[in-house]
This record gives sequence, C-alpha cells and structure tokens, in this order.
Amino acid sequence: MNHIYPIFDTILQKHDKEELINQKGKVIWMVGLSGSGKSTLARATENTLHQQKKLTMLLDGDNLRTGVNNNLGFSEEERRENIRRAAEVAKLFAQCGVITICSLISPTKSIRQMAKEIIGEEAYFEVYIDCPLEVCEQRDVKGLYAKARRGEIKDFTGISSPFEAPESPDLRLESGKKTIEECHQILVNKVLDITSI
Ligand code: ADX
Repeated sequence: MNHIYPIFDTILQKHDKEELINQKGKVIWMVGLSGSGKSTLARATENTLHQQKKLTMLLDGDNLRTGVNNNLGFSEEERRENIRRAAEVAKLFAQCGVITICSLISPTKSIRQMAKEIIGEEAYFEVYIDCPLEVCEQRDVKGLYAKARRGEIKDFTGISSPFEAPESPDLRLESGKKTIEECHQILVNKVLDITSI
C-alpha cells in the first residue's frame, strides 16, 4: 500500500457511535445451504429488532449480487471475493454500531475464516442455519436444485460445489427440525443479548 495514509486512529471510534445509539455493533454472519431458511430468518429477525428500536442492516447474498457483487459468479475464487466484499461492508456497518445481519451461503471453512478475520473476532457472530441438503432440495423454493440436477446451473452448492458445515458456530439453528418461528425467537434473543450495552 504505497502512498496511502489511513487516519483510523484520529477519527471517531466504534464506541462513540455505540454510545449514541445505545447498542453494540455486531455482525451476525448467517451460514447455510440455499433453501435452508437464511434469508427468511434474517428478514424476520431484522423486522423484530427494528420494532424493538434497534438499528440494523441486512446484507443478503442475492441482494449484494445485484450491486456491489454484480460482477461475480460462483467459482471458488469468485465466492471468495463475494465474501471478502460482504465482510468488508459488514465491518463498516458494525463499526458504526449497527447490528449487521449477513446471510450468505459462505460454503467453506476458509472463506468463513477470512470473513471472521476481516470483521474481527470480537464483532463476528456465526450462526449456522443447519438444514439437511435433502430437505433444502425437497423444498426447492427457487427451483434451483432441480435446475442444478439437470445440469442447467453449474457449481451449485451442495450438488456440484462443496459445502463444509461449520463445526463450531457460535449458534446452530436446526431449521430442518425446528420451525422458522422457533429459530427466529432463539436468534432474536441471542442477538439482543450480545448487542445490549
Ligand atoms: S456464496 O456461496 O458466494 O456465499 P451467495 O450467498 O452470495 O453465495 O449467493 C447464493 C444465492 O445465489 C443462492 O441463494 C441462489 O439464489 C443463487 N445462486 C445462483 N447460482 C448459484 C450457485 N451455483 N450456487 C449457489 N447459489 C446460487
């Protein structure tokens, strides 16, 4: 980084913003297969937190891929860049005290490790939306699994591209066994707990 002079030390700090809005900035990083319920849970959780006067931001993989990540596909390298950018953006929001909910497949251990390093261990909270592939495939809300099985989508997570389940997430929600409403309640309570001052 030649000729770059960051001013991080001399600008307002995270705690200055957190005091202003009376909450801790955290990144709730939601991991899971397509169709596991990540986006549904993320949306419901954000709504409930908002009703409780918490300042939130929702960064969803599909949404980000229409904007900041719209030049990226699904090769391993492009997913890595997708997650890198999402993590950098999430870090900025959390730095501002915002409860930042990220829902991206984040398929590999190494990709998640990178996200955690970018965001910082203190602010990163990993939630695994644990739903068996068979259940996601059977639901197939977007019809993508059927297309992937027919070979119409290449590098599809769980079918033709790997998904390494998190071994020790901060929170595991079994969305194949519990209802979305149950998962939502658990998640909201946890988020309120870790973001309260
Ligand atoms: S990630 O692997 O890079 O973290 P991300 O969460 O951004 O993925 O995007 C996943 C979404 O993209 C899925 O929910 C699905 O709607 C869509 N999608 C399109 N092609 C693929 C694919 N090959 N693999 C997985 N998801 C895909």
